Amino acid sequence: MLVLGIETSCDETSASVVENGKKILSNIVASQIDIHSKFGGVVPELASRKHIQNIIPVITSALSSANVSLDDIDGIAVTQGPGLVGSLLIGISTAKALSFAKGLPIVGVNHLEGHIYSNYLEHSDLKPPFISLVVSGGHTDLIYVGIGEREYEKLGQTMDDAAGEAFDKVAKLLDLGYPGGPIIDKLSKEGNPKAISFPRPYVWDHSLNFSFSGLKTAVLNYIVNAQKTGQYINTADVAASFQASVVDVLTEKAIKAAEIKKTDTITIAGGVAANSGLRERMSERCQESGYKLFYPSLKLCTDNAAMIAGIGYIMLKNSLENNDLELDSDAIKRFKFYKKI
Ligand code: KG4
Ligand code: ZN
Repeated sequence: MLVLGIETSCDETSASVVENGKKILSNIVASQIDIHSKFGGVVPELASRKHIQNIIPVITSALSSANVSLDDIDGIAVTQGPGLVGSLLIGISTAKALSFAKGLPIVGVNHLEGHIYSNYLEHSDLKPPFISLVVSGGHTDLIYVGIGEREYEKLGQTMDDAAGEAFDKVAKLLDLGYPGGPIIDKLSKEGNPKAISFPRPYVWDHSLNFSFSGLKTAVLNYIVNAQKTGQYINTADVAASFQASVVDVLTEKAIKAAEIKKTDTITIAGGVAANSGLRERMSERCQESGYKLFYPSLKLCTDNAAMIAGIGYIMLKNSLENNDLELDSDAIKRFKFYKKI
C-alpha cells in the first residue's frame, strides 16, 4: 500500500511517499527558514503564502522521486493539527482536492502522533510498550506508548514554554538568529556547560511535567546583570550551560517515566531530538540504567511528511478514522486515545 503524506503544520512544506508504513520512497521538505529568520520566528501569514507556492511542486517532486504517479497511490494522509491554522489549511485543501479528483481515501493525522511514529520508520526492532519524549517547537510531552495499536497515555507536559521554544527564545536573547535550536547546539560545542549554574526546573519534582520559562528568565537575568556590571559575556558558555540544563531535565524525566511505567525502552522525537547534547546524555543515562534508546536520523526529527504517511498507513489500513471531504484543520488537535493521569 502506497501512502502519500502531506505536512504543512508550521513552516515546512513536505510531501512523502511511504510503502506499507515502513519504506520511505521519497521525503521532500521545502524549508522556509530564509523567509522567517529575519523576523526571529515564524510569521503565520507568510508561512501560509509560501505553502501555497510550494505545495504542488513539493508533491510533484515527492511522486517523481519515488518513481510513482498519483495513479499508484492508495491513500492520502495529511496533518490535521496541532499547528498554524492557515498553514494546515493549505495541506488539507490540497489533500482533499487530490482525494476528490482521484477517488482516494484520506485521513487527518495528529502531528505529534507522526513524530512518535518517526522512530518506527528507521528502527524495525522498536516494539511497544515504550516511553516517547516528544520535544519540538510547540510541544514537550512524555507519552507512554502501549502495546495496543495507537494506545497512548500522556504522562507529563510542559507547563509553559516548549523545549524548542526555549532554545529559540534564548538564541534570540543572545542575538544568535533563528531557529535557535541548531545554532545553540553548534555553539555549545565551543562552550563550557558547567560555566554558569542555570536552574534545572522541576527536575526533582515528583511529577513528569516540565517548565522552561523560568530558565529562559534566568538566562535573561544573567545577561542583564553581566551587562550592568560590565562583565564579559561568553556566549558559547551561556549556550552550553543553558543547553545542559534543558538536556538534564529532559533526560531525567524520561528515565523517571520509564521507571514508573516499568518499560525497558525510551524514544525521543521532534525537532529537539536532533540536539547532539540530548542524544549524547540520553545515550549515557540509558546505557547506565539498562534502557534501550531510539531516536530518528536528523531529517526525521524535524517536521517531515514521511512520519505522517507512516502513521497514516496504520489509520488507513484499519479504516480507523477514514475522513471525507469534511476534514478540517484543528489548531489544537489532541490525541483521541490519551488517558490523562
Ligand atoms: O518538530 P519541529 O521541526 O517543529 C515543530 O513541530 O515544532 O521542531 C522545531 C524545533 C525548533 O524550536 C528548533 O529550534 C528545534 O526544534 N531544533 C533544535 C535542534 N534542531 C531543531 N533544538 C535543539 N537542538 C537542535 N539541534
Ligand atoms: Zn513537529
